[in-house]
Amino acid sequence: MHLIFLGPPGSGKGTQAGQISAKFTVPHISTGEILRTHVSQETDLGQKAKDYMDQGELVPDDLILDMVVHRLEQSDAQNGWILDGFPRNISQADFVATTIIPADSHPKELVRELRVINLDVPDDILVQRLLARGRQDDHEEIIRHRLQVYREQTAPLIDYYQDRDQLYHIDGNRSIDEVTEDLSQIVSA
Ligand code: AP5
Repeated sequence: MHLIFLGPPGSGKGTQAGQISAKFTVPHISTGEILRTHVSQETDLGQKAKDYMDQGELVPDDLILDMVVHRLEQSDAQNGWILDGFPRNISQADFVATTIIPADSHPKELVRELRVINLDVPDDILVQRLLARGRQDDHEEIIRHRLQVYREQTAPLIDYYQDRDQLYHIDGNRSIDEVTEDLSQIVSA
């Protein structure tokens, strides 16, 4: 399984990636979680990333791409993965298409197998969910900025993957179990 979760902050990417990971025994790789671990351990990467994260900005690509490559080299990720929060802009998506799962990869099935899930949830529900959670970057002003960054930099990936016939839309404004049920059908098909 090679699955990418798109969707705005609070749409349930992490929640659903966790559910599918447990159900199908595939590693859940969240760039946000990896970054938060680096921040809490005060690594060099964490110190460079912290201000961007606190302000709701994307962390620069050069830091993110090395981090993702390093994670995907680990043994548990050799037969599949679920990417949550990556790619997050066109250049990261191009990196997936040229380096992680190249369009000319052999076997070809790998390219066909890549599925991209977009979770649709209205903005007011996103804000409510994130305010109720209260993570370090879950203050209303920062949430609104993360939504703006999402619209400007990440939402263009919807057309990017639609054009490649790899996109699945899911209504994420339902119960967690209902969303997981739909997702399970997509990944099992
Ligand atoms: P990241 O950790 O990826 O945060 P995000 O995209 O803002 O997403 P969230 O974790 O807030 O939301 P989610 O969609 O995962 O929803 P969740 O399941 O948690 O990134 C954080 C920061 O790291 C970025 O701002 C950036 O700085 C940096 N970063 C990360 N990746 C990067 C990259 N590739 N490039 C550059 N920078 C990067 O759910 C949210 C809440 O809603 C939870 O409380 C949950 O319980 C609840 N919930 C979920 N589903 C439902 C449901 N169906 N019904 C009711 N409640 C629900």
